[in-house]
Amino acid sequence: MRSSAENEQRERLKCVVHPSADIASALAAAELATLIRRNNAAGRPTVLGLATGSTPVRLYRQLIRLHREEKLSFKNVVTFNLDEYHGLPRTHPESYWRFMHEQLFNHLDIPPANIHIPDGTVPRAEVFAWCRAYEEQIRAAGGLDVQILGIGRTGHIGFNEPGSGRDSRTRLVTLDALTRRDAARDFVGEANVPRHAITMGVGTILEARRILLLAWGEAKARVLADAVEKSPTDSLPASFLQGHPAVELHLDAAAASELTRLRHPWLVGTVDWTPAITRRAVVWLAQQIGKPVLKLLDEDYSEHGMADLLTEQGPAYGLNIRIFNELQHTITGWPGGKPGADDQHRPERALPAQKRVVVFSPEPSDDVLGMGGTLRRLVDQGHDVTVAYLTSGNLGVPDEEAAMAAELVIDLAGTGTEFAQTVRRQLGAKAAYESDTPEIRQLKGVLRRGEARASLQACGLAAARARFLDLPFYEQGRYRQFRIGEADIAAVAALLREVQPHQIFATGHSADPSSVPALGFEVLRRALALAAGEAWRADCRVWLYRGPDREWEPAEIEMAVPFSPRELTQKIQAIYHHKSQRSQSPVVAAGLHESWQQAEHHNRAIAGRYDALGLAEYEAIEAFRRWRES
Ligand code: GLP
Repeated sequence: MRSSAENEQRERLKCVVHPSADIASALAAAELATLIRRNNAAGRPTVLGLATGSTPVRLYRQLIRLHREEKLSFKNVVTFNLDEYHGLPRTHPESYWRFMHEQLFNHLDIPPANIHIPDGTVPRAEVFAWCRAYEEQIRAAGGLDVQILGIGRTGHIGFNEPGSGRDSRTRLVTLDALTRRDAARDFVGEANVPRHAITMGVGTILEARRILLLAWGEAKARVLADAVEKSPTDSLPASFLQGHPAVELHLDAAAASELTRLRHPWLVGTVDWTPAITRRAVVWLAQQIGKPVLKLLDEDYSEHGMADLLTEQGPAYGLNIRIFNELQHTITGWPGGKPGADDQHRPERALPAQKRVVVFSPEPSDDVLGMGGTLRRLVDQGHDVTVAYLTSGNLGVPDEEAAMAAELVIDLAGTGTEFAQTVRRQLGAKAAYESDTPEIRQLKGVLRRGEARASLQACGLAAARARFLDLPFYEQGRYRQFRIGEADIAAVAALLREVQPHQIFATGHSADPSSVPALGFEVLRRALALAAGEAWRADCRVWLYRGPDREWEPAEIEMAVPFSPRELTQKIQAIYHHKSQRSQSPVVAAGLHESWQQAEHHNRAIAGRYDALGLAEYEAIEAFRRWRES
C-alpha cells in the first residue's frame, strides 16, 4: 500500500506501521537510547514514563540489550510507571512492581531510588493524598521526557477506562469488565483479578513531552482505528492523545489493519485495483448498502468512491458476476479436495485423493473451536489426519479442576496415588496467586490431554491420532514471558518431516505476538523454513483458521466449509469435552459466556454474511484463508 498524505488523511494521530513488533520495538528503543545518551552527556537526568502488559516487553528486552552490549547507562534515568493494581502486594506474580523488576529494572544499572511505581498497598483512605504526592514527584523530577503507552481493548491508556476525562489526574479507578476479562488468563480466573487500580490520569500522561504508543496484534486493531480516526471522546480515552504535539503510534500490520488506508483504501486515495482489493471493495459495498452482490448498480459504485474501479473493470454487471463467482468458489463441502472433480475453481486440489493432514492446535481446544466441523469432515472423507497440540495448556486450568482430578485418583485407591497425594497437598498449601509447582502443572496437563482426546473422538478421530508436543517454551514459561527457542522449532520440524503433510491447518498468524497462538505460529513458520527445499513442501498447503474471538471477513476467505444444523451441534458437543476451559466469567460480551457459544456465534455469522451477499443460505460456516510464505 502506498503511504501518502492523501491516504492518511483520516488519521488524527501519526501512525507508523512496521513489518513486525520486534522491528517497531527496536526503533522505539533506539529513540530512548539517543535521548538517554544525550542527557547523560549533558549531565541531565532522563525521565521516562513506563507501561506494563505484553506490549512493551520487546522494548524492554531491547533496552536491556543496549545496556549490556552497548553500555547504555541508566544510572541517570528516573522512571514513573503508569499504573498498578490496587490491593496486590509487590510480591504478587501479577503485580506491576514485580513485572517491571523482572522484565526491566533487575537487568539495568538504574538506582532503586529512581524507580517510581504506584503503590497498590496504600490503604483506601490514603490513596487520594498518595496520588497527589505521585504527581508532585513527577513535577519535581522535571516532568516526563517520554511516556511509553500500550492500549487496552477498551481503549484505555494506563488504566484510564472509558469515562476518564481528558483532565483526569493520578487516582484510584474501577476496572472495566472487559479489562478484567483480558487479565483473567494471567490471574487464572476472572474472580482473582483485582477490581481497582491506581493509574496516572489522562491529563498526567498528556503532559509528557513525547508519547510513544505501541500496539501489536489484531485484537487491538478496531479500538486503535477508532482512537486514530474518530473525534476525541471520553468513551475512548486513547483518543485524547489527538492534539498532543509529539505523539507517535508504532504498530505492527495486524494492529494497523483497521485503519481506513489499509482496510478501505479506496475511500482515501487512488488504489491499485488488485484482485484482492477489488473483491474487498465489492463485498464492502454490498455490505455497506445492504444489497446482494448481483444487485449492485453502477451508481452504487460511483456514489461510494469507486468510480475508478468501474472505469477500469466495469460496468457493474460483469464485475458483480465475477466477484459473485469468486465468492461462490470459496464454498466447498470437501476441505481436503473433492476426488474426481475438476478442481480448477475449487479451494483445494483433488489429488492426492487421500491427503496427509496436520492440524496444529496451540493449546487443546483451539482445534475444535476453530475448525471442529472441518476436522470431522476431513476424517469422514478418508484423509489421514494428525492433530498436533503444541502445548499442554496447563496454565489455563483452574485449581479446582486439578483438585477434583487428584481426588478422583485417590478415590481409585491402590497403587499410583502418591503423585495425586503430592498434588493435593501442594494445591492445599498453594497461596492465592502463587505459581503452580511442576507437579501441579503436570496434572493440569494430563487433564487437558484427556479432554483433547475425548474431544477428538467426538469428531470421529481416534485418540491415537493426537500428538502432544509439549513445546518447551510453554512448559518452562509463564504468560507474557514465553520465549521460543531452537528446541521448539526442532520438535515441530521433526513432526512435519515425519508426516510430510499435504495440508496443514494452523492459527495465530496475526494474534498478539506474545500470545500462545502467535508463538505457536512463529514456531511453525520457522519449522517450515527449515524444511524449505524438501520435496513434500512443494505439495503442501497451509490453511489458517481463527480463534473464537474473531472470524475472517467474507472477502478474505479462500475456503468456506458449510455445515448443517446437525453438524454444528456435533461440533459443539466436541467442544464440551474441554471442561476445564468453561468460562468462570460472569460478564461477557454479547452474553456469550462460553467459548463454544462464541464459536457457534461466529460460524453462524459467517453463514449469515454469505447469505446476505446473495450466496446460498447455510446454518454455519467455518472459514479458512491460505497462508503463503511471501
Ligand atoms: C493493562 C495496562 C495497560 C496496557 C494494557 C494492554 O491494562 N494497565 O497499560 O496497555 O493492559 O495490555 P497488553 O499490552 O498486555 O495488551
